[in-house]
Parts: sequence; structure tokens; C-alpha cells
Amino acid sequence: MFTEVCRADDAAIARAAQLIREGALVAFPTETVYGLGADALNAAAIPAIFEAKGRPSDNPLISHIADWDALEGLISETPNETACRVMQAFWPGPLTLIFLKGKNVPDAVTAGLDTVAVRFPSHPVAQKLIRAAGTPIAAPSANRSGRPSPTTAQHVAEDMDGRIPMILDGGACGVGLESTVLDVTGERPRILRPGGITKEMLEEVIGEVDVDEGVLGMLREGAQVRSPGMKYRHYAPMGEITIVTGENASRHIAQLYDEAKGTAAILAFSDADYGTRRVYRLTDASGELFSVLRRFDEDGIAQIYAEDVPLGGMGLAVMNRLMRAAAFRVIRAE
Ligand code: TXA
Ligand code: MG
Repeated sequence: MFTEVCRADDAAIARAAQLIREGALVAFPTETVYGLGADALNAAAIPAIFEAKGRPSDNPLISHIADWDALEGLISETPNETACRVMQAFWPGPLTLIFLKGKNVPDAVTAGLDTVAVRFPSHPVAQKLIRAAGTPIAAPSANRSGRPSPTTAQHVAEDMDGRIPMILDGGACGVGLESTVLDVTGERPRILRPGGITKEMLEEVIGEVDVDEGVLGMLREGAQVRSPGMKYRHYAPMGEITIVTGENASRHIAQLYDEAKGTAAILAFSDADYGTRRVYRLTDASGELFSVLRRFDEDGIAQIYAEDVPLGGMGLAVMNRLMRAAAFRVIRAE
């Protein structure tokens, strides 16, 4: 299949919407990461998403809407007060909410769950595409399963060239990490995946919010998986990442680097001095993280030693992604 990469002007968006209506796949920008979209209400269109990504079919998709009325067609109950407050505060934006699923939503979208994930993105191209398609768009991140999520059209092309008919290029994504997934179906709201809307921002609007234990911890064996996406190794470059924490982290990182066999690199969030060693330094930890993970592969890095970041604000989302990329390899250096 030939994959067309198009600047996301109105004509290209109209053609993309036509493809969606015909049951085909289109990659498109959102404010978080690029999505790989299909008509969320067309059961026949959904399997191609899982095929193109190489994604296990038990990992459900987020349905994207671009006006408030579209929510009704996807869910089975009137949103509760918690849901209404966070929607009012953060939609459109990088927040995904879990609701009880309405009967229009195909099982393939929700992987057979009785809940559905819904998001109203703020990116103008995403909104125009959904409106032009006239249907909610089911979309996971547009990476091959196990690769870092794409934050540019170039990243999408690396993973999807030849697999989908069209990529809408809307430039680099602003947030650079995926949306926050918040379960509002239970008694207390619970973050299943930290992301663009922080725990602190949510708590200002709805009071205390739980963080699922799977967000940072290794899932305990046999523990119930609330968000199926959390059980897979994720965002992984081909090189091996080791996170080093603690007071002497930078000294220990330098030492590990010097002892490494093969090409090593340091992923730094602080301004620690590593001399002439090969350092990839992120000042805004969240926005560039996925690009840097991809660059490690391009640069043929075999061993990556990473600093950690404090868990406040976007730090929780950064550490959630980094822990997965590192397959939970963490060393504490006292
Ligand atoms: O920012 C984002 O959320 C991006 C853009 C494209 O919108 N999308 C995205 O989709 O990250 P994906 O498929 O890569 O991640 C969706 C996450 C997965 O961890 C999945 O398990 C979880 O949301 N999820 C989806 N439906 C769910 C449900 N009904 N209950 C619990 N978790 C759900
Ligand atoms: Mg993803």
C-alpha cells in the first residue's frame, strides 16, 4: 500500500475524512501524540488498526469526539458529577475518561469490556477531521506496538509506511505524552495512566484522586489489570535502559557508562556534569522524551543510563513512560 503524507490543509482533511467514512485508516495529529484513526462506530473498520500496529486485540481503543453531543452516542448513562466537572475543566484537551459503554460501540473498540474510553482532543486538525468524518474516531497512538508513541508525522511514517493509506502532517505535537486516562465509573476517581492533565490539576477540580498501583509499580502477578495497556512493555527503544535513582545517581551513572560494553549514552534531566560522555539532555522532560527514545535507536545506542525525575506535575507521566521503556530496571545509588 502506498502511504501518502499530506500537509493537513482543508483539502487533505476532507480526503482523510472520506477515507475514514469508507472504513480505512488515517494517522492524524492530536495535542498529545499522533493517532491512528478509524470510524469508531464501524465494527468492520477496527481490526485494521490492530493489524497495522501489531497490537494485541485485548487492548481497547480511545474514541475521539469533537462536539459534546457525540458523547451521548458512546456511553450508556448520564455522566456523573465527577465526570461533568473534569469535562468542563479539561475538555477539549489531553484527558480520556472511562464511562460505561453504550450499545452502539463495537466490541472490537473496547476489547469486549463494558466500559469505553472517550476523549475530546483540542488539536484543530483532530477536531476538523472528526467533524468532517461525521463520526467518532477510534484511535490508539500511531506507533507500531512496543515502539515509542509518535510526536511527528515523520515518526508515524517510520512505523506505518506501507501499512496505511494516509498520514496527515500537522507538525510536532505540543504535549508529547499521551492523554491522562481517568476512570470515573467507581466511587473514587482513579488515574489509570498519567498524562497531559496532571493529578494536581484534577485534584483542584474534584478533590482527591487515586493513582492505580500499576502506574509506577511492576504489576503484581495475578493483579487485576484495570487498563489493559498497562500490562505490556511499552515505549521501548532497542537499547537497554537502566534508571538510576538516589543521592549518588550521577556518579553511579558515570561509572556504569564507563564500564558499559557497546555504545552507551546518558539520559539526563538535571544539569549534572558528565564530562565528555555522550549525554542526551532533556530540559522539558515530557515534550521530547519519545523523540529521544527513537533517537537512541537511530544512533545505535546499546546501553542507556537514565536519571529519574521528581513525581510532581508531569513527572508522574514521564516516570510512568520511562519505567516501561526500561522494563522496570531501576538501580538505587546511595
Ligand atoms: O493521547 C492519547 O490518549 C492518544 C491520542 C491518539 O489520543 N491515544 C492513545 O491511545 O494513547 P492508546 O491506545 O495508545 O492508549 C489508550 C490507553 C491504553 O492504555 C488502554 O488500555 C486504555 O487507554 N483504555 C482504553 N479503553 C479503556 C477502558 N475501557 N478501560 C480502561 N482502559 C482503557
Ligand atoms: Mg499507545
